[in-house]
Amino acid sequence: MKTIEDLDVAGKRVFVRADLNVPLSDGRITDDGRIRAVAPTIAKLLECGARVVVASHLGRPKGEPDPQFSLAPVAVRLGEVLGTSVSFATDTVGESAKATVAALADGEVTLLENLRFNAGETSKDDAERGAFADRLAGLADVYVGDGFGAVHRKHASVYDLPARLPHAVGDLIATEVGVLKRLTDEVARPYVVVLGGAKVSDKLGVIDSLLGKADKILVGGGMAYTFLAALGHEVGISLLQKDQIPTVLEYLERAKADNVEFVLPVDVAVSAHFPDTKTHAPVADFEIVDADKIPATKEGLDIGPKTRELFASKLADAATVFWNGPVGVFEHPTFAEGCKAVAQALLDSDAFTVVGGGDSAAAVRILGFDETKFGHISTGGGASLEYLEGKTLPGLAALEG
Ligand code: 3PG
Repeated sequence: MKTIEDLDVAGKRVFVRADLNVPLSDGRITDDGRIRAVAPTIAKLLECGARVVVASHLGRPKGEPDPQFSLAPVAVRLGEVLGTSVSFATDTVGESAKATVAALADGEVTLLENLRFNAGETSKDDAERGAFADRLAGLADVYVGDGFGAVHRKHASVYDLPARLPHAVGDLIATEVGVLKRLTDEVARPYVVVLGGAKVSDKLGVIDSLLGKADKILVGGGMAYTFLAALGHEVGISLLQKDQIPTVLEYLERAKADNVEFVLPVDVAVSAHFPDTKTHAPVADFEIVDADKIPATKEGLDIGPKTRELFASKLADAATVFWNGPVGVFEHPTFAEGCKAVAQALLDSDAFTVVGGGDSAAAVRILGFDETKFGHISTGGGASLEYLEGKTLPGLAALEG
């Protein structure tokens, strides 16, 4: 893959496909990690005298403009991070984009509106995607792919556009891929993986592939309740994917056969109500119960203290750790203890620690941990998982050659 250093960018319009899909609450950015992660690439290009056209998706609008998914607040924050003004085009390939790009001088930067406001971006139809990519190509001379969080998407700006312009991989993607290689080739052992998040169905592929590679797999978060149900435990009104029970049982069997230690919660924090993550209103009926004694009227919202200790002990002697997905509803203080304990255990260990996934990366920052103390905080959730599954990622394939 070519890098930025292999391109001649001075005076050129350089299209940077970034992943600026940041969490927003009432129009405010609640975690700017993805903006800060790609900023050095943009700054480097600006220093080289490029005219930088940054583009990204935000959320999942339905192929037409939808103000709640506007990238306008991101343009402001990007300007603050870069320490320069960032102009904003109110469309993707229309009059505003053309005018804003045409107005760029060397060393200036603009951000286009959300690429997913155009149906061509995510279309399954090659011709429709290609037509949108043609129009995007008209805005630039050179392409830099640096949206790691989106490289698993076969989308126009990720997959089709690089084929239309001289292209190179950005520094963020290069770093991310370098880290993921340390989790796949020549992994330092013991290799311990912590998986969380709501749905077990999102993690099946990665569990399948990790069963052949990891030494221990610790499971928390919403997905743990499908495992507990598979073992015959009452899970009350906890998140449950009944249809996945046969698959998770098979994984538990395979783990035994492959000598992979599978660690499930032994106690959980429960409540009859999902907590208010905006007001942080106290949760009166919250209690800690053993994982096989979840009341029928309550749902599990975090791992309990015994599990926190258990997970910490399993992480203590790790040489490599990968953590993907929150183990509790960390957005509410009552249910943030599990994520705090996992983050602290990672900091306490001498392992090479990788936090992957938008939510777990945000958890680390929102809970006040110093992100520089971790081995690597990935900007990619689904992208990291698909890489670890060994899948071909369209956005990486497109940057090769
Ligand atoms: C992410 O947040 O994982 C990436 O930005 C990709 O977003 P998507 O799942 O909506 O394609």
